[in-house]
Amino acid sequence: MVVLTKKKRKLKKGVYKFLVLLIIVGLLGYSGIKLYKDYKYKQTYEYKLLQHGYKLEEVKILEKNFDNKRLDWLLSVPKNKTVLNLLKEKYYIANKLDDYLAYEKENANLSLTEIVLKVNTLTNYDFYEHTIESDISKGILLNCNKYYRLPEDYVPEDLVTINTNYAFGTRQATKETVDAYINMWNAAKENGIHLMVNSAYRSYSDQEAVYNSYKAKNGEAYADKYAARPGHSEHQTGLSLDIFSIDNTSTKTFENSAAYAWLKDNAHKYGFILRYSKDKENITGYSFEAWHYRYVGVEAATKVYEDDITYDEYYAYYIEK
Ligand code: DAL
Ligand code: ZN
Repeated sequence: MVVLTKKKRKLKKGVYKFLVLLIIVGLLGYSGIKLYKDYKYKQTYEYKLLQHGYKLEEVKILEKNFDNKRLDWLLSVPKNKTVLNLLKEKYYIANKLDDYLAYEKENANLSLTEIVLKVNTLTNYDFYEHTIESDISKGILLNCNKYYRLPEDYVPEDLVTINTNYAFGTRQATKETVDAYINMWNAAKENGIHLMVNSAYRSYSDQEAVYNSYKAKNGEAYADKYAARPGHSEHQTGLSLDIFSIDNTSTKTFENSAAYAWLKDNAHKYGFILRYSKDKENITGYSFEAWHYRYVGVEAATKVYEDDITYDEYYAYYIEK
């Protein structure tokens, strides 16, 4: 009996010791894991950015949008609200962030919307100051303007002649452009409007002659407002048409005609955009041209029309990006 009790006591003590040991090991393990977890968390961008003054919701936005290199840069400079505000801009393009920031630094008076617009459309450079070859692989969506130039020998592959029912004289454009124009012509006719093209495809040398004649008469600044320099005219793409009506071919009064009123709000349904709109001269580089329509296809034309943007803005954001 006595032996048994002693044994029992020893056993109890053993169990007790074991439990205490287990608790100690458990506690050590738990705090070890916790310490390790804390250590690991402190290595994260979330922790570092929070310490740097960003709010949690801002951190989430930054982590979603930027790679480690950019996050490291954010940690190396004081908290940067401009970056967060740029991300909210409708036409923000990720790979242009450095350009936005550089341009913003020099032009703190401009809004971020203007900064994004200018950088996207290259109008942060003067016209013709910074030119790039047009990406012809974009087909009907290519851009050609005072920044994007066509090679001197570029001639569209599928030029066709527009029947003289629809154009004054012999005018050529790409087949797709002409087919779309004839569809539009028929729709306009049903509305009592008789459209007529009076300029379409122009070769590099045709454009050179046009530009030089403006320049000879009225000087370079004037010429640049109304005509493209050779290699920079959409007319060389075969995708642009100067559209007037049978009874009005005046660049002065066409904007007051029924034909223009119809074209302005219907051309996009046939894939055409009014390329040089009113009040967009700072982007397009040209004075308003009520007659110059560019074929880009129905989808792009509808977006440009509905969002009331220039093709230069559309191209940067939807095509080139
Ligand atoms: N008039 C347009 C801008 C051109 O010369 O292409
Ligand atoms: Zn034109």
